[in-house]
Amino acid sequence: MSEKIILNKPINHIAFIMDGNGRWAKKRGLPRHLGHKEGCDRIIEVFDLCKEYNIKVTSYYAFSTENWNRPKDEIRHLFNYLELFFKREIKHLIRDGVRVVISGDISKLPLKTQKTCLNAIELTKDLDKFVMNICLNYGSRDEITKATKEIASLVKEGKLNVDEISPELVSNHLYTKGLPDVDLMIRTSGEERLSNYLLWQNAYAEFVFTDTYWPDFKREAFEECLKEYNSRNRRFGGLKNE
Ligand code: IPE
Ligand code: IPE
Ligand code: MG
Repeated sequence: MSEKIILNKPINHIAFIMDGNGRWAKKRGLPRHLGHKEGCDRIIEVFDLCKEYNIKVTSYYAFSTENWNRPKDEIRHLFNYLELFFKREIKHLIRDGVRVVISGDISKLPLKTQKTCLNAIELTKDLDKFVMNICLNYGSRDEITKATKEIASLVKEGKLNVDEISPELVSNHLYTKGLPDVDLMIRTSGEERLSNYLLWQNAYAEFVFTDTYWPDFKREAFEECLKEYNSRNRRFGGLKNE
């Protein structure tokens, strides 16, 4: 058993890029979709680890606006596994007081998946101990474009002055409205890029990249990321903690 890490600075929000499912499967001679199946099983386990560390908000990149470029069959399996995830875990989430947020345009997903997502949102809307933000058909550029259109419409309708447009106002037009900024962004599988993920929300996040594939991302790998976060000196443009 590894020793529990004592966090030396707060973490309000961790965002995960759950990458490496396909390579995990390939390494085992399995079809790619079984990597997604295994990956979906990690979501609740990683959530439980974050809960142990009293991290209130966690985001999970499940499907990007660019992932439509994948084979149809892989996409179908992925949505099926996500649906199963919600159906299986909804009781667990309710018991833990978790509000489910979905970031992304779910109207483009299969009807069954949309229903499952909307049901999870509805059943958990008044819970306030934790937030699980699943990013589904999510892309930052889409999100910021959507916010820009909404704000422009308000100005056009005379409901908002241009001078009233502030970073807070922009934040309130993002899918993540009301959630704190990301403190720690973790990407698994060795890739070191953002892939259109939470560009605005990650503005001052600490980035940790681990070679571990998402389906292998368990306590040990997670705690390594927390140790790395502990070693960072967050300055926010100032000179503190020098
Ligand atoms: C991440 O795993 C899950 C999604 C993008 C949906 P990948 O499917 O990207 O796995 P690799 O990167 O090909 O190994
Ligand atoms: C990012 O992973 C999207 C998700 C994890 C859902 P990708 O595997 O799609 O990203 P790229 O193609 O390596 O940038
Ligand atoms: Mg990938």
